[in-house]
Amino acid sequence: MTEREILAGGINEVIRVGDRVHRPTGPWSPRVHDLLRHLDSRGFRAAPRFHGVTGDGLEILDFLPGEVSDYPAIPAARTTEALISAAELLRAFHDATTEYARTAPRDGWQVPAQEPVEVICHGDYAPHNCVLRGDRVVGVFDFDYARPGSRLWDFAYAAYRWVPLTAPGNPDGFGTPAEQAVRLDLFCDAYGLGPRSRAVLLDTVAARLHDVVGHMRTRAAAGDQAFASHLAAGHHHLYLADAEYVPTLTR
Ligand SMILES: Nc1ncnc2c1ncn2[C@@H]1O[C@H](COP(=O)(O)OP(=O)(O)O)[C@@H](O)[C@H]1O
Ligand SMILES: [Mg+2]
Repeated sequence: MTEREILAGGINEVIRVGDRVHRPTGPWSPRVHDLLRHLDSRGFRAAPRFHGVTGDGLEILDFLPGEVSDYPAIPAARTTEALISAAELLRAFHDATTEYARTAPRDGWQVPAQEPVEVICHGDYAPHNCVLRGDRVVGVFDFDYARPGSRLWDFAYAAYRWVPLTAPGNPDGFGTPAEQAVRLDLFCDAYGLGPRSRAVLLDTVAARLHDVVGHMRTRAAAGDQAFASHLAAGHHHLYLADAEYVPTLTR
């Protein structure tokens, strides 16, 4: 019999079944499945392929072997190699979606599409949704928050998580402000972020964090227990403190 294992880490209960994972779906999943099919057709191998849905409605995806970091980050996820390869992989993912994004439906995603549409945003590009082999980021999964949008919006959150751009005192973070500034430049360079985006990046990170908190509040108010417990645990205070802190970083 194929080995089954429950994978911890996120909000969803994900089950590994041999070289596949079974994962809950939502009303937005047909959009994600179409995106994964497109990535496969483009030869983008860092995302799981979609293999259909089980009788009880779980999506069947490739299991991506490697290590997944949580918070605080594991040593491999703190390395310069991880930082640079994470930015390179985000760039490769975005570049693989530009053509698709032009005609992709704007509705039906879990969060609304956002102008200007340049790419498909992953929506939660962070160590907790990426796979490391050694110090290299080689895979990305959990496309539940994918939607058409701008490179900068997706990049801002990725930088927040990977650098990370956390205020001193946030137990999820690491690095002095000077180290964060150096790591942020490396992340921008590895992605190839343009000068106009760089000029507004820190303010965009702050706006993005306010958006995360807004989403938590909306979902909790709608009765989502996971988001309600995040709010009860005060997670939003960390995001709001980070949103205040990030624009004060000198670069
Ligand atoms: N395709 C995959 N390959 C390898 N591990 C995965 C994959 N999908 C999920 N996981 C593991 O399961 C955990 C939770 O999965 P995730 O898809 O991120 O769900 P959630 O929506 O709850 O965040 C992850 O932290 C990761 O360890
Ligand atoms: Mg996840």
